[in-house]
Amino acid sequence: MRQEMRDYLDAPIDRHGTHCEKWDRLGQHYGREDLLAMWVADMDFRTVPQVQEALIERARHGIYGYTDNRAGEQAAEAAWLDRRHGLKVETDWILYSPGVVDSLFFCADALTAPEDAILVQTPVYGPFYQTAKLLNRRLVRNPLIYDDAGWRMDFDDLEAKLSQGVRMMILCSPHNPVGRVWSREELQRVVDLTARHNVIVVSDEIHADFTFDGHRQTRILSLDGAGENCVMLTSATKSFNLAGLRHSSVIAPNKALREAISNALTRAHATSPNIFGSIAQTAAYRHGDEWMDAVVEYIQENRDYAIAFLRERLPMIGCAPQEGTYLMWLDFNGLGLSHDDVQDLLVNRARVALNSGLFFGEEGRGWFRMNLATPRVNVEKTLDNISKAVRSR
Ligand SMILES: Cc1ncc(COP(=O)(O)O)c(C=O)c1O
Repeated sequence: MRQEMRDYLDAPIDRHGTHCEKWDRLGQHYGREDLLAMWVADMDFRTVPQVQEALIERARHGIYGYTDNRAGEQAAEAAWLDRRHGLKVETDWILYSPGVVDSLFFCADALTAPEDAILVQTPVYGPFYQTAKLLNRRLVRNPLIYDDAGWRMDFDDLEAKLSQGVRMMILCSPHNPVGRVWSREELQRVVDLTARHNVIVVSDEIHADFTFDGHRQTRILSLDGAGENCVMLTSATKSFNLAGLRHSSVIAPNKALREAISNALTRAHATSPNIFGSIAQTAAYRHGDEWMDAVVEYIQENRDYAIAFLRERLPMIGCAPQEGTYLMWLDFNGLGLSHDDVQDLLVNRARVALNSGLFFGEEGRGWFRMNLATPRVNVEKTLDNISKAVRSR
């Protein structure tokens, strides 16, 4: 990374007073404002300069009516997927959706019926559970296995569960919160098993651009046979820090699945994109390569710093180093405190805001998630504060 870029990422930017959930809603969520915000999954870095310029230029025009930038954004996204991930997609497979969580709901609504079950691999991002619950679908859990080797899928359990009326599996790839970048072999097994049991896979790949140590994201649609039963959810919002602009894509090669999802989007009147979301995504996919490489490198260094700190100073806090995502999944059970007492220690003694593991399901009891997409100084202070708070208990 160029030194200029490192200096840029190292310099904290005050986000207070910018209508920012992460830094401006601390009091509401944690009961106090004087915390280091290491929770909500967005980044404390400015986006790609060309994205900012494209937004400013469009904003100057002053008319922000209904928009259609489909051809431009689809071409830019297809080129990014090809260039960065070796995946070739036809532009007409790409549907626009306001957000990845919205897409989970649209897919489940369009592709399952009320008596169907939806399978998720727990612990997992909270809205995966909500998708099944709010649509009155049965939820089937396929818990991940955690041992000395880290996190992995339980394929025996998966195969047994897929035959129990499951119609859709929501895959998190890379996985939030455990940080696995699933291997090609693991994903091919998922595709083969789901195809055999006539199950549709909706693969949430919002974190796909953040992979470390040579782990490479295998896009679900690059696997043999995946075009038949798999739908891929993507977004530039996580990769380029654009979450407030609300924009994402659903990519479905299978025409029947795509048309069903498209109909669900139309019914909800969700087909007209946010003009700034569309412009930002297009510019990011066109111009974001160098920026993305630098940010991934920086976050990997933050992760390495955090792992070394934990091993040396806080060995009672468990962690399997994440292979992808900028989210670190930390096991505080070794402290021998209740979940609420750990939360109290983090907030009221260490003065740091981490996500409670319970957002990710009951398996998250005693676990907390720390966001590493922030200047190094925040990671250092957070860990130092936690270390002091643990010692002075
Ligand atoms: C796995 C996963 N999916 C979806 C989202 C949110 O996506 P969106 O803001 O596009 O709804 C997040 C945000 O943290 C996430 O971690």
